Amino acid sequence: MRKILLTLLIILVLLGIGALVFAFWPTNSRPVAVPAGGMADAGLKERGHYLALAADCGACHTKPGEAPFSGGLPLASPVGVIYSSNITPDKETGIGDYSLDDFARAVRHGITPAGATLYPAMPYPSYAIMPDADIAALYAYFTQTVPAVRAENRSAEITWPLSMRWPLSIWRKLYAPDPDQVTFDPARYTDPVIARGAYLVLGPGHCGACHTPRAITLQEVALDERSTDYLSGGPVIDGWVAVNLRGDNADGLGTWSVEDIAATLRGARNPHHAVIGKPMQQVVTDSMQHMTDDDRLAIAAYLKSLQGSGRSKSEFVADIGTTKALAAGQEPEVGAEIYLDNCAACHRTNGMGDERVFPRIAGNPTVLADDPASLIRLVLAGSSLPGTQTAPSRLGMPGFDWRLSDTQVAELLTFIRRGWGNRADAVSADQVADVRKTIADERKGEGTAASLAERK
Ligand code: HEC
Ligand code: HEC
Ligand code: HEC
Repeated sequence: MRKILLTLLIILVLLGIGALVFAFWPTNSRPVAVPAGGMADAGLKERGHYLALAADCGACHTKPGEAPFSGGLPLASPVGVIYSSNITPDKETGIGDYSLDDFARAVRHGITPAGATLYPAMPYPSYAIMPDADIAALYAYFTQTVPAVRAENRSAEITWPLSMRWPLSIWRKLYAPDPDQVTFDPARYTDPVIARGAYLVLGPGHCGACHTPRAITLQEVALDERSTDYLSGGPVIDGWVAVNLRGDNADGLGTWSVEDIAATLRGARNPHHAVIGKPMQQVVTDSMQHMTDDDRLAIAAYLKSLQGSGRSKSEFVADIGTTKALAAGQEPEVGAEIYLDNCAACHRTNGMGDERVFPRIAGNPTVLADDPASLIRLVLAGSSLPGTQTAPSRLGMPGFDWRLSDTQVAELLTFIRRGWGNRADAVSADQVADVRKTIADERKGEGTAASLAERK
């Protein structure tokens, strides 16, 4: 017995030493090639500015009301609140003393000049594929165009032992790609437009950070289209489901055209759909609306090149039975009656809404998503579309939380998830009650992810 215990102890100690050696073993990175025109080239800074928009650096590094890129924005993580860093060129509190190589190591590898690993809230696993030329452009923009601002970095609100950073380096070495191995290769795609779209989606746009499922160990299960898991639908973010962006015809973008997708990226809406979730509204307003039309079309073309994940539980096959029944005043289910009383004025009895004003319910990915969280949140709390450059007016949908009980919302949503050819699972009153409670807590300002986002 003692012998066994002793052996176990020795094994544990060896494993511990092994883990520490693995964690502290230095990560190499090759030096970044300085562009031919030199770092002061005006065109380089311009390109860096555009890339910073494509990569949405401001979404996390700019706290509303504060100077651009001065950091301090709270972000919820599974272990506690972390704060984004000051990435203005201030010498003491920002990145003013970072060399181009230091900057590249932070952005692509997730390693600070002091050797600490960053939390992957900073999407370096996506930025890893960015080529030297683009990293140099970003560096030129951040160090030469962005004004320096003094703002001390705030340390994370995470309790010990989770607050130790060295275990993060184990995570990074196991799950984050090595930038020296994965630089984007456009030759993998036959069509140059799709290659451009692929680069923007996989790299700067970090779309997979939200839209790809994550493993229990929190890494994205796939980082590019060589797996059908890539972009097949991510977790719930601040209460909103990051929908499947693959070709599945019900809960994905199978029925959307390239122009539909590009319009959504430009103005948060297209003739048939609206972006109702705050995280994606922000992607549009901070980032995608500033892209060129060509780049938005390239992203859309790339997304349309992704075949269905094949795992969708729902299917959409248009069926006019529901429309006929509603028009004839037959309401076989309670849900149908609730729909006629509350929703049909805008979304119509045929579930097709009204072009450009009221989105479709039939065959809509938000309605058909496996997880009905977004749908419940929308009906309880309502929505307003953000104004964008191309579509400045704010439309809106009222919330029904004051009017419909949990059971009524469940019956209504079960009805719309099965009407007009939609085929998705029923919604339960318990699911509605959970979301209602989360919304109430957020309104009380408790420290949920969404309330942190509101603090922005
Ligand atoms: C989704 C949120 C998010 C986005 C988008 C993002 N960052 Fe970050 N970034 C963070 C967070 C959070 C940290 C701090 C992480 C930590 O403390 O471990 C960070 C840290 C950094 C650091 C390290 C600073 C230091 O203290 O050494 C640099 C440099 C940086 N980001 C640059 C960028 C650039 C450039 C972009 C755009 C190309 C970008 N970030 C986009 C969230 C983000
Ligand atoms: C006053 C008109 C109006 C009423 C009534 C209304 N909606 Fe909406 N609905 C909208 C608008 C407008 C949008 C687009 C989002 C926005 O503008 O904020 C929308 C969006 C939606 C979406 C999201 C579509 C997408 O593309 O993702 C769904 C689903 C939806 N409504 C369902 C319902 C249900 C169910 C009811 C009844 C409880 C309802 N709506 C009542 C106007 C309305
Ligand atoms: C911060 C997380 C996040 C990032 C990053 C993100 N998305 Fe989204 N996206 C979401 C969420 C959440 C939704 C669901 C919104 C809704 O229900 O309207 C969504 C919805 C969408 C939709 C469907 C809109 C609809 O009306 O159903 C498209 C298309 C889309 N995203 C494309 C992209 C592309 C392309 C990128 C990368 C450039 C991207 N997203 C990056 C969170 C994100």
